[in-house]
Amino acid sequence: MSARLSSATRSSAAPAPHDPCVVDQAFWSRELSPEEVHLWYLRPESCEDQVLADWHAGLLSPEEREKSRCFVFDKDRRLFVAARALIRSALSHDCGIPPARWRFAPGPQGKPVVAGPQGHPPLRFNLAHTRGLVVAAVARSGQVGVDVEYVAGGVDRTLIETCCCASEAAAIERVSVEDRADAFLALWTLKEAYVKARGIGLALPLQKVVFEVAGQGFSRARLAAVPDDDPAEWQFFQPRDFLPEHRLAVAVSRHRASESEVRLVGPMGLAHPRIAPDPVRSPGR
Ligand SMILES: CC(C)(COP(=O)(O)OP(=O)(O)OC[C@H]1O[C@@H](n2cnc3c(N)ncnc32)[C@H](O)[C@@H]1OP(=O)(O)O)[C@@H](O)C(=O)NCCC(=O)NCCS
Repeated sequence: MSARLSSATRSSAAPAPHDPCVVDQAFWSRELSPEEVHLWYLRPESCEDQVLADWHAGLLSPEEREKSRCFVFDKDRRLFVAARALIRSALSHDCGIPPARWRFAPGPQGKPVVAGPQGHPPLRFNLAHTRGLVVAAVARSGQVGVDVEYVAGGVDRTLIETCCCASEAAAIERVSVEDRADAFLALWTLKEAYVKARGIGLALPLQKVVFEVAGQGFSRARLAAVPDDDPAEWQFFQPRDFLPEHRLAVAVSRHRASESEVRLVGPMGLAHPRIAPDPVRSPGR
């Protein structure tokens, strides 16, 4: 059973709009199809619960468990453990590889990719974290990027000028002062999701990733221009409402036969029938 989320954002070549973001209430039993992106999320504060924290720590590799002991502040350790546990669980969800066995390596420009274990399925992923939220996007094909930001306060004009082109900055100026930060973050997360999907990081200035935006809080946007790439190759999803304190965007390359669908499969919790922690003592105990 699934319930629809709010509006999706897609590039110009997309067919008649429909809302491909669904909250999957039976996600434990769902497998990742080639057309889907699974979007997992977790609130690091939930890891204040010791049972959950121990369970998450048991999903980490031995090296990550060791590293998690080095954090001075609990909140930083919780975020690190939550992010590692989330991505490992998301990858393990439908392939039976124990979470602790995944190995990662940086791609040419730093984007982490799956490097093991041997014979692993060809999964693509991307991770993002901000105050109060960790998200992980997983796909079977194409490239995927995700960004999330905490919505708080206003937005600085210098920041707008640094990462927006003139038409985007003008569109932001037209938004009422109280909605401006939210609109800016809608645009910012789209741009970051795109550069993260390509794995090029901020080597590509965000000003050069140009979106046309419209609607309340920029609820409609399409990638209009970008260097060395075809905007029509990309789909963007921007689920709203389900996490009112956060703005989130997913970018998916469209090198596939059919339209993509983003499926929200979270929040991650205990008792996943196919995700089991290693029987190793976790930090803090
Ligand atoms: C990738 C980047 C955009 C992340 O932005 P951010 O807002 O700080 O962080 P987010 O929460 O969105 O994402 C962090 C995650 O992105 C992933 N990531 C790291 N490098 C990445 C890259 N090049 N592309 C995509 N994802 C990347 C990692 O999983 C990271 O989480 P982790 O460190 O816990 O593993 C930014 O750090 C960046 O540009 N890094 C590359 C450095 C770079 O480009 N330098 C300029 C060279 S000229």
